[in-house]
Amino acid sequence: MRGTRRVFERLTLHLTERRIGLIGDNGAGKSSLFRLLCGLDRPDAGWVRVHGLDTASERRQLPRHIGLMFQNPDDQIIFPTVAEELAFSLMAQGAARAAARAQAKDFLAQRGLSDWAGRAVGELSQGQRQQVCLLALQICSPRTLLLDEPFASLDLPSQARLSAQLAATEQQVVVSTHQLDTVRDFERVLWLADGQVRADGSGPAVCAAYVDDVRARADVEQRHGVPHA
Ligand SMILES: Nc1ncnc2c1ncn2[C@@H]1O[C@H](COP(=O)(O)OP(=O)(O)OP(=O)(O)O)[C@@H](O)[C@H]1O
Ligand SMILES: [Mg+2]
Repeated sequence: MRGTRRVFERLTLHLTERRIGLIGDNGAGKSSLFRLLCGLDRPDAGWVRVHGLDTASERRQLPRHIGLMFQNPDDQIIFPTVAEELAFSLMAQGAARAAARAQAKDFLAQRGLSDWAGRAVGELSQGQRQQVCLLALQICSPRTLLLDEPFASLDLPSQARLSAQLAATEQQVVVSTHQLDTVRDFERVLWLADGQVRADGSGPAVCAAYVDDVRARADVEQRHGVPHA
């Protein structure tokens, strides 16, 4: 449940592939599924296990195993500067404050971003804040990365960089997106619709099915007008 709304019912999923895409209309349940997977929300019934851990009873151990890059950076970022935010991620995994700060600075330096360390997060653009969220996840290197519409605000060079990083990473990656090109070649894509899995299969097949469905709905709307929710 989210608020008073039942988002998922009888949902059973085993997510074992290394690259999984998550697609579907606004409100389909993509972000809600991520919140369940990383332990931010608990299922009202049933259970979620991640790398053998129950997300409700073993939540404290989860950060080493799974991490979420939020769709909205302002929901994720807590600290005033970039270095503090990155250090906080490490501290959530048990690192001591001084070691975490030093590692955060090194991590930024390795990426040519030393000047970001002391920058006020509130003075960064939306896309830059999204990059901070991604860095805060990458510095922790959990076994599974959940990326909720990570391409949405990135400029083209950053999108290309992220795609290359995703292609190269050894970790399991689950990406939600409305930019189908970014997941079309994934071994598995899930199409969510109203909290249900509408299709589950190879990236090319599921993306094509979703595009066909969107086209069909657009045709109906053109002929009969936009349906009211
Ligand atoms: N904070 C909330 N409180 C109550 N209901 C919520 C909340 N956030 C989302 N919902 C509801 O949960 C359902 C799934 O929303 P969710 O955010 O998971 O969709 P989404 O697929 O991520 O959509 P988008 O593409 O817009 O990001 C929707 O019906 C939405 O209205
Ligand atoms: Mg969402």
